[in-house]
Amino acid sequence: PADAERGPNGELTIGGVSVTELAETYGTPLYVLSETEFRNRARAFREAFSAAFAPEAEVDVFYAGKAFLSTHAARWADEEGLCVDTASGGELAIALTAGVNPRRIGLHGNNKSDQEIRRALQAGIGRLIADSLEEIHRISAIAVELGTTAPVMLRLTPGVHASTHDYIATAHEDQKFGLSLTPVPGTAAEEANPYAGSPAWAAVNAAREAAGVELIGLHCHIGSQIFEPTGFELAAQKLIKFLAQIRAVHGVELPELDLGGGHGIAYTEADTPRDPQEIAQALAATVKAACGEHQLSLPRISIEPGRSIVGPAGITLYTAGTTKDVVVEDGLTRRYIAVDGGMGDNARPVLYDADYSAVLASRNITGEHDLSRIVGKHCESGDIVVRNVYLPSAVTRGDILAVPATGAYCHSLSSNYNYLTRPAVVAVNNGDAHLLIRRETEEQMLARDTGYTAPA
Ligand code: LLP
Repeated sequence: PADAERGPNGELTIGGVSVTELAETYGTPLYVLSETEFRNRARAFREAFSAAFAPEAEVDVFYAGKAFLSTHAARWADEEGLCVDTASGGELAIALTAGVNPRRIGLHGNNKSDQEIRRALQAGIGRLIADSLEEIHRISAIAVELGTTAPVMLRLTPGVHASTHDYIATAHEDQKFGLSLTPVPGTAAEEANPYAGSPAWAAVNAAREAAGVELIGLHCHIGSQIFEPTGFELAAQKLIKFLAQIRAVHGVELPELDLGGGHGIAYTEADTPRDPQEIAQALAATVKAACGEHQLSLPRISIEPGRSIVGPAGITLYTAGTTKDVVVEDGLTRRYIAVDGGMGDNARPVLYDADYSAVLASRNITGEHDLSRIVGKHCESGDIVVRNVYLPSAVTRGDILAVPATGAYCHSLSSNYNYLTRPAVVAVNNGDAHLLIRRETEEQMLARDTGYTAPA
């Protein structure tokens, strides 16, 4: 985070709090979140997008809670004027518990349960993003049963393959999310409507006809950790063309368009993120031009950034343990530094081949550096935290290492594999630290074990 710096003893401080103090008070591994950085980034997205689309359209920025959610984080987002995007009943419960106005919450999910839909409608949330034809019928039935109207957006897959890891690209055709714009083979083509026979078109018809459903707009999310604005622009153009077709056939202009999240951040120096202004201006220009071309008035715009808000605000602290010098293939020696966490608190390297960097945080030493690999303590050789990093040769057991840019999808994806306890999350701000999420305890893990023994 921007508020990380070296203190008088050479140790790293974040938000004005020294990492050694944090490690002593809360233990390691520890997720540390800079509240200032989170708020600054949230505000930067909101201001950049509002400015770029003004005066033609208003913008809602939905913080994608899947990246990191706690009642505190939901309130930060809320206080910075953001809405909250949730992707399950559990995330919804946290946002509601935080006191976020339900009208400013959205619910995603490709396989929402009836219970999740019911809960969302009972709470009166602002939008449900429907992911399938079948779901529209279930939303309708539940809305009718509750005597309410469900505000529904349709998640479309505009067929844009974002240049990112396959597992986090979501708008190409052959994957589980959304409704495709491509007609299903064998359906009768209609000259006046290129989308006739597509799942997306069928969903529009269904949502318009379904009792208890109000179709408020279209949504797409092309993937995650994307730098180039081109993919977002292409997707926006496709959705606007689709909006124009809806107007041509049904005579209505849907009022909202959501362009998803996915804005990339810098994990290492090799990454080249764009700032919110650049993304916002590129998108606004494209949306305005496309709406102009189809003579549509601009819909209300929303986006759903997660990683780009919380990722750079987080850092993970580990305590170094065993070190080993291992001769690698090319005659080079690599220092393996094992830390007290690993794939349980950061699954991203093993899942997506993600790269991170690290620094020695407990002291600042110059002099010789070694090519090092930070590994975890789990029983897998793929349990790597940082693949390659030059660290001072003096790094030894008890030193604290800090891995930046771990605010997004590290706590969210954490597990207690090998029955390691999941780390605590602490927020720092102006010299103060506040515990947001407690460290998991062995008692809590054991409490899940029923202790069942077969009757004699
Ligand atoms: N909106 C929708 C509908 C999404 O599916 C996602 C992320 C977002 C917004 C937020 O995307 P972001 O701005 O955070 O990139 N676990 C993976 C990322 C999975 C993203 C899933 N959907 C990772 O650690 O890279």
